[in-house]
Amino acid sequence: MFLLVLYCFVIGNVIATQPWYHTREVRNVSTNSGNNVTLKCEKECSTTMDCPTGLSCFQATNDSEGCCLRALKPNETGCVMDDQCKRACESTHCDQSQSPPRCLCDIGSHFLFNKCWKKCPDFAHSEPSVDSTGFSQCVLKVDSKTALNYMRRFRRQMRSNFC
Ligand SMILES: *[C@@H]1O[C@H](CO)[C@@H](O)[C@H](O)[C@H]1NC(C)=O
Ligand SMILES: *[C@@H]1O[C@H](CO)[C@@H](O)[C@H](O)[C@H]1NC(C)=O
Ligand SMILES: *[C@@H]1O[C@H](CO)[C@@H](O)[C@H](O)[C@H]1NC(C)=O
Ligand SMILES: *[C@@H]1O[C@H](CO)[C@@H](O)[C@H](O)[C@H]1NC(C)=O
Repeated sequence: MFLLVLYCFVIGNVIATQPWYHTREVRNVSTNSGNNVTLKCEKECSTTMDCPTGLSCFQATNDSEGCCLRALKPNETGCVMDDQCKRACESTHCDQSQSPPRCLCDIGSHFLFNKCWKKCPDFAHSEPSVDSTGFSQCVLKVDSKTALNYMRRFRRQMRSNFC
């Protein structure tokens, strides 16, 4: 029930501004984050082109419609299924034990600058810091401005280390 409310909150506004001809019958979508909660899909789709700006099409198959939802970066909240997190960053999942649910880096990857790193970069300590909830993040060795400049300069070389 909570997810349903959250979902309405997250994309309700977008839907409300859709013209009448986009209105379709709502359908339940199963989430795939361990529990088999279903939620009403406000906007069905076969590809992302069918979705309002800012939303992407999830769980569409050849013979059934998917649902328009937001793709979410690491640490963003409001996911209802893992795919929303994975669309933006493969090594993430939707942690539904949090309220609101949040996209977290998978075990073995570490959070820094809204990304998940396979290995902490040179401008951070090689050992990540892990809190009591298991949230793992890289700790900078330099100030964040220096680190961001470095990332900008070496982005191409570093790209395989994070998503
Ligand atoms: C959607 O889920 C609700 C609540 O679980 C259920 O009552 C309803 O019959 C479902 N609708 C469809 C089309 O599966
Ligand atoms: C959820 O999964 C359980 C166990 O697999 C099953 O018994 C139950 O009917 C499922 N509930 C729904 C709403 O699909
Ligand atoms: C879906 O359609 C594509 C293109 O028509 C086809 O290549 C693919 O095999 C289909 N997949 C399934 C599961 O039917
Ligand atoms: C994650 O996002 C929350 C806001 O939802 C913010 O308070 C927190 O600092 C972020 N975590 C990190 C490690 O940036």
